[in-house]
Amino acid sequence: MIKIENLHKVFDNKYEVLKGLNLSINEGELLCLLGASGCGKSTLLNILAGLMQPTSGDIKFEGCSVLNTPPKDRDIALVFQNYALYPHMTVLENVMFPLRVGKNRLSKEQAKKRAYEYIEVTKLEKFINKRPHKLSGGQQQSVAIAAALVQEPKILLLDEPLNNLDATLRLKIREEIRILVKSMNITTIFVTHDQEEALSLSDKIALVQDGHVVQLDSPQEIYLEPANLFVAKFMGNPSMNLFIMRKQGNRLISNDFKIDLKLLTPSKFKDELFEEDFFVGIRPEYFLIAPNAPVFTTNIIQKELVGKDCILHFKLNKKVAKIIVSTNSRVVEGNKISVGIDYNNIHIFTIDGRRVY
Ligand SMILES: Nc1ncnc2c1ncn2[C@@H]1O[C@H](COP(=O)(O)OP(=O)(O)OP(=O)(O)O)[C@@H](O)[C@H]1O
Ligand SMILES: [Mg+2]
Repeated sequence: MIKIENLHKVFDNKYEVLKGLNLSINEGELLCLLGASGCGKSTLLNILAGLMQPTSGDIKFEGCSVLNTPPKDRDIALVFQNYALYPHMTVLENVMFPLRVGKNRLSKEQAKKRAYEYIEVTKLEKFINKRPHKLSGGQQQSVAIAAALVQEPKILLLDEPLNNLDATLRLKIREEIRILVKSMNITTIFVTHDQEEALSLSDKIALVQDGHVVQLDSPQEIYLEPANLFVAKFMGNPSMNLFIMRKQGNRLISNDFKIDLKLLTPSKFKDELFEEDFFVGIRPEYFLIAPNAPVFTTNIIQKELVGKDCILHFKLNKKVAKIIVSTNSRVVEGNKISVGIDYNNIHIFTIDGRRVY
């Protein structure tokens, strides 16, 4: 188990990027570290790998602090965004290299044998004698992954490894990464700023904001039960529809629609609604078309096809809102539709972002 405790990092220029970050990762787990560009993901990976020291806080592997353990003794392999391969070495030599250095180095024959194994699992046999510049981006990144896996590390850190690849290749390699690390039972931290990648790949997601982990949960939980408004906005594409609504007695009201609070599930309230105004969040899949109990009617202003689903745009409270429906739906631009709300799946946040339902 990896435990990161109250980690702070202040750079020489006084910029504090990690502000008491806590995070636990179980053995064999694939965790995605997700957050906007600049939130400190690479900083955290570098500290975990021992390439950078934290300002304060602790990192424990199996209960023991590793802050004084040099990088080479942490049993960690790191894959960077920009393939970090040796340009003068062939694929085979690049994959063998980590086995030929350090105090546990293998003989040339042993290293070659092990390198061949990992070249096979990463499907690089055809390129074994090529140098990196003769390979595509995806192939180069596969070599970097093979050179990490060949070390059979306990922990694998991947820093946005698929950023430079096209969408199809990205999907394919990330599936392969998941299969490999799960079959080898390697504890893996995969850094990404892409919420879809995190949702599809991980056992758990840690979402980082402003130097803290704001939520650590399974992909399903983080999507369905966002801890606060920031998480709700970050996860999901198209993103959650948000409306400012005013509390009036037992209702939340806005220009174009109202919500009767008595229709909500009492046990799902996390707090009383003390304030005057709230954000109501409704994901595009939780608007219902032509329901038994319509809440409003509207005109479709745009229809966007995305494979089996179709996104309908309409105006609500003077803002563009979106519904996801099946592509089978015959609704076209200009149609008037009546819309309901799946009250079991709406969220209510205070204006400062705290979730209250
Ligand atoms: N040595 C440094 N000195 C001062 N500031 C730094 C230093 N290294 C990084 N930073 C700043 O710290 C912040 C976090 O950087 P970091 O590289 O960890 O972000 P990131 O989450 O990995 O972003 P990205 O998704 O763009 O890779 C950035 O604002 C960066 O400019
Ligand atoms: Mg980074």
